[in-house]
Amino acid sequence: MEAAVLNMAVLDNKDKKEAEAERTAVAGRAGLAKEVKGTKGAELAGRAESPEIAGSAGKAEGAEIGEGAGKAGSAGKAEGAEIGEGAGKAESAGKAEGAEETKTIGEAAKQQLSRYAHSLETALASYLPQCPLPESQVAEAMGYSLLGGGKRIRGALVLAFYHLYHEDIAAALPYAGALEMIHAFSLIHDDLPCMDDDDLRRGKPSCHKAFGEAQALLAGDALLDLAFEVMTDPRYSRPFPAARVLQVIHCLARATGLGGMIGGQAIDLAQEGKSTPAELLERMYKLKTGALLAVAAEIGCILAGADREACRAAVEYADHLGFAFQIKDDILDITGDAALLGKPIGSDEANGKTTFVRLYGLTKAQQEVDRLNAEAKKALDKLPGDTRFLREMADMLVCRQN
Ligand code: IPE
Ligand code: IPE
Ligand code: MG
Ligand code: MG
Ligand code: MG
Repeated sequence: MEAAVLNMAVLDNKDKKEAEAERTAVAGRAGLAKEVKGTKGAELAGRAESPEIAGSAGKAEGAEIGEGAGKAGSAGKAEGAEIGEGAGKAESAGKAEGAEETKTIGEAAKQQLSRYAHSLETALASYLPQCPLPESQVAEAMGYSLLGGGKRIRGALVLAFYHLYHEDIAAALPYAGALEMIHAFSLIHDDLPCMDDDDLRRGKPSCHKAFGEAQALLAGDALLDLAFEVMTDPRYSRPFPAARVLQVIHCLARATGLGGMIGGQAIDLAQEGKSTPAELLERMYKLKTGALLAVAAEIGCILAGADREACRAAVEYADHLGFAFQIKDDILDITGDAALLGKPIGSDEANGKTTFVRLYGLTKAQQEVDRLNAEAKKALDKLPGDTRFLREMADMLVCRQN
């Protein structure tokens, strides 16, 4: 996978085992380095079943995706690097700055994520509908929630798995964009007063705070619809065999609906204020968060024409990643910094949510994140091509502060 080779020369210069040990240590420290000061953390720790949750959980000192991505983003733009052009430019950018040797392991992946995110943003803006008043108010709300924020993990997964097989990833952008539209729809609805009632999202007022509940509801609905409109638009589906596109649509519809994200949200709401058995909690996480991440990886493989074994490995990777991602989200809801997170902290506590942290405590939760991260990376061994970005992205998500 020549073009998807990232600027990760630093990995080649290091003993891989040493690098792995280093990252594991960083991951282990993440969330454990600082004491929880707030009462919320202490209360929660007190309630947790685990005896080891003495409230020592905290903030990773390490890399922060948003910040890094932002910097890399402008660097990427300055270089005019396009994803399809791949590593060549990223590499020369690194050399031009003469900083290659001093780069930390995750930086190349951060830059790659930033390039994916930048291409996605550009593509997403072009898919938004142009319409007259008064419908344009909904279009404005859609753009507000779809553009200008977010880590773009789901879209990046589509692109990264497609990238394992194809140098030019442009054809996959509408499908990666569809994932981001469905994700944005899920966030708009998730924040509504009838759900989590959160006023802040991606560092700005939630959609319903900015546009009102009715507009937000419609914007979420319309984003879901737009995802399917874009995927079936002949301009975008033409490069692929029709059967592949159909399979993608089927998988995405399933992962979004009651058997996926919406089903998980339904469990989440049904369990508010109740104690939740561990098995149900796991199902909830795998559905509400895992389903969209897993299908993103799967769609990247399907579009690329990957064989079944590879699709399975991709889903296995993203399943672990998704579970870890939601546990980390729950940890950050307690230990995070709202300014960095771009969303309120303490929301789970306020809503009486059952979370992994509530059941097991912060320490065990972070250990589980690390364990799942290692499992996710193991699944990548079954895939062809250069999977370094996907490995690094798993590490970034473990250490993330937003
Ligand atoms: C937030 O997802 C919702 C969860 C599933 C935890 P992200 O953390 O990926 O949100 P953005 O897209 O980066 O804002
Ligand atoms: C996941 O859970 C939400 C979705 C599936 C949209 P959360 O409710 O914890 O997500 P945040 O914390 O609001 O982003
Ligand atoms: Mg929620
Ligand atoms: Mg929420
Ligand atoms: Mg949350």
